[in-house]
Amino acid sequence: MAETDTISGTERRSYVLIGTGNRGTTMWGRDLLAGWSEHVDLVAIIDKNQLRAQRARHMIKSNAPIFSSVEDMQKAGISPQLAMVCTPDDTHDEIVVKMLDAGADIITEKPMTTTVEKIRRMLEAEARSGKRIDVSFNYRYSPTAARIKELLMSGVIGKVTSVDFHWYLDTAHGADYFRRWHAYIRHSGSLFVHKATHHFDLLNWYLDSTPQTVSAFGKLLNYGKNGPFRGERCQTCPHTANCDYFFDISSDPFLDALYEDPASEDGYYRDRCVFREDIDIPDTMVATIGYANDVQVSYSLNTFQPIEGHHIAFNGTQGRIELRQHEDQPWDMPDQDEILLIRNFPKPGEEKLERIIVPHAEGGHYGGDNLMRDMIFKSGQNDKLHQRAGAKAGAYSVLCGIAALKSAQTGEIVKIDDLMPDIGT
Ligand SMILES: NC(=O)c1ccc[n+]([C@@H]2O[C@H](COP(=O)([O-])OP(=O)(O)OC[C@H]3O[C@@H](n4cnc5c(N)ncnc54)[C@H](O)[C@@H]3O)[C@@H](O)[C@H]2O)c1
Repeated sequence: MAETDTISGTERRSYVLIGTGNRGTTMWGRDLLAGWSEHVDLVAIIDKNQLRAQRARHMIKSNAPIFSSVEDMQKAGISPQLAMVCTPDDTHDEIVVKMLDAGADIITEKPMTTTVEKIRRMLEAEARSGKRIDVSFNYRYSPTAARIKELLMSGVIGKVTSVDFHWYLDTAHGADYFRRWHAYIRHSGSLFVHKATHHFDLLNWYLDSTPQTVSAFGKLLNYGKNGPFRGERCQTCPHTANCDYFFDISSDPFLDALYEDPASEDGYYRDRCVFREDIDIPDTMVATIGYANDVQVSYSLNTFQPIEGHHIAFNGTQGRIELRQHEDQPWDMPDQDEILLIRNFPKPGEEKLERIIVPHAEGGHYGGDNLMRDMIFKSGQNDKLHQRAGAKAGAYSVLCGIAALKSAQTGEIVKIDDLMPDIGT
């Protein structure tokens, strides 16, 4: 793998945006050019849906030429130094390998990919090309996550022995995954991969270790075949008056412009029924994970909650760190989190319970999106918390999700080494 940092620097680097859905258009299009245009220059846009790409280009306020594939861009003689890959998860590998082989560095959206074979192709292409893959693990950069990492690194709770980690998606955000390609294992690897990649990466980073053994359950208990009725999509559904999950895309002008008319090109509707019979991913998941450094993790992911956020606790030989982080709950303090540091054996002058208040930073993911772009694009950044994530980190978090899904499907305990024996090398 390339060790050197070839992306950060003072020069302005040319880049191609590949995938102009919500994430590509905002994070790596409109917002990147609004805040970091002295570092990057958008020279091409690729999406296989030409109408969506045109709408996105208008929103991004760019004149960059639009192509439908990497090959078409290359035929036009454009060779960007960087590629931002924001297509569906199962398509990342093919695009990343092509762009690495063409001499570009990569920033790929999470999850890095969805299968062991695809991970291997990407790691091999990175090594072969001497270029670098960055994976967009923005949660590492939220000020609260950074403060927890500092506390763990300080040793204040002694040796960490276990973690309780529970993630909650509310009925709006959770349902969104069941409307689209995420609802199929072949495209997303299930939410154990698509969504939990963030959470498994946070664990790997917080614990500075790697997962070894995974045991999990996962069932589809609310969406899909469980629904009381179903239609094709919300816009044309006869059940909207009775459906808790009715979503009116026309009420969101941004999503409406980016998805509704463009769907006429490829049938990719943003508001497909969450009760489709063929949905094959679990909506309710638990996993236990054993780490190389002996930490034991208990994890869950639920997708139809009245709250959005997570609860995490690190249990150590000298104490415990606790966080309950929610988005927009009336009982929370606005725009800030409270970390509880609870000591087993406080020394004179130390409190048993310390309340550490951390304000959120500006922008998406509690400020993580902006801080990640600073780390990647601005020169002179000090990565003292090891927040910048490469392909190996991307691979480990995906492997943990693949292991969890496999365990849920087979009832067996799955070893990461059995999935990919060479990952540690
Ligand atoms: N880091 C985060 O917090 C975060 C948040 C949201 C999404 N994401 C990730 O970003 C990626 C995109 O998510 P989204 O919600 O914008 O998806 P989306 O489905 O809305 O958009 C994907 C776009 O890619 C295009 N596309 C599909 N296959 C293609 C191909 N082979 N070549 C070119 N274009 C192709 C589609 O036409 C579509 O416009 C996903 O990997 C997702 O996991 C990350």
